[in-house]
Amino acid sequence: MERAFWQLYRDFFDRAEKKRRWSIRDDIPWDQCNPRVDPAIADVVESFCAVELYLPDYTSKILPVVRPSRGRTWFYANWGYEESKHSLVLGDWLLKSGARTDEQMDDLEVMVFQREWNLPHDSQLGMLVYAMTQELATFLAYRNLRLRLEDRGDDLALNKLLRLISVDERAHYDFFRQSVEIFLKHDRAGTLEQMRRVMHNFAMPAIAALAEGRPRVAAVNALEIMSEDIYYADVYLPILAELNVHRSEMRNRVPVRKSAPTA
Ligand SMILES: [Fe+2]
Ligand SMILES: [Fe+2]
Repeated sequence: MERAFWQLYRDFFDRAEKKRRWSIRDDIPWDQCNPRVDPAIADVVESFCAVELYLPDYTSKILPVVRPSRGRTWFYANWGYEESKHSLVLGDWLLKSGARTDEQMDDLEVMVFQREWNLPHDSQLGMLVYAMTQELATFLAYRNLRLRLEDRGDDLALNKLLRLISVDERAHYDFFRQSVEIFLKHDRAGTLEQMRRVMHNFAMPAIAALAEGRPRVAAVNALEIMSEDIYYADVYLPILAELNVHRSEMRNRVPVRKSAPTA
C-alpha cells in the first residue's frame, strides 16, 4: 500500500509542477476588480478566506496522524503550500476590491485564531474519507461562487482566482479519492464503514460557526453555493460512482438472522 501512496504522490506532484503552478502577483488581473460587486459575494469570499485561514490547525493536526506514510506526509507538505495561497489570494482580493479594510481583515484573523479546529474523526481512514469529501465540496463551492458572480456583473480578478483555486481543490480531491481506492482494494468492509460514518454526517469546517448569528446568513444562503441537496447530488453520489460503490453498500448493516424467532 505504501508503494502505491508514494507513486500516487509522485504523479500528483509532477503534474502540479508542470500544469498547476500559478502566481498571486502575476496571474490575476488585479486592475480589473469590480468595486460594485454584490456585497453578498464579498461576504462569501470572506467566509471562504476564514476557512482557509485555519491552515495551521489543518496541517499540525493531520501530520502526526499520517506520520507513518511517506506518500501521505509529503503530500500534506505540498498541499499546505497550495492551501496557503488560497487565503492569501482571497484576502488580497477583499482588500484590493475595496470590499474590506485592513482593520476588518485584522479582525477576521483575530476571530479565526480565537477558535481552534480539531480533527472531526478519530481514525486516519475516517480523516482520509473526510478530506476526500471536503475537497470535492470545496471545489463545488468555489465553482458555484464563480457562476453566481458571473450572473451578478462579474469581477475579472475574482473570477480568475476562483478558477485557479477550484482547479487546485479538484486536484486535491483526485489525490484523496485515489487514496481511498487503495484502501477499498485492501479492506473494502473497513473502508465502507468509514465512508458511512463520515459521508452520512458531513459538515464543512467552520463555515457554520463563522456565519452563526449574523444577518448575512440569509443573503449568503440565497446564493445557493452549498446545500444539502447540492451535497447529495454533486458530492455524495458522484463520489460513490467514481469509487464504484453501490448505494446499497452505504446502508447500515443489520445482522441477518438465520431463522425467524418463534412466538
Ligand atoms: Fe483551499
Ligand atoms: Fe484543497
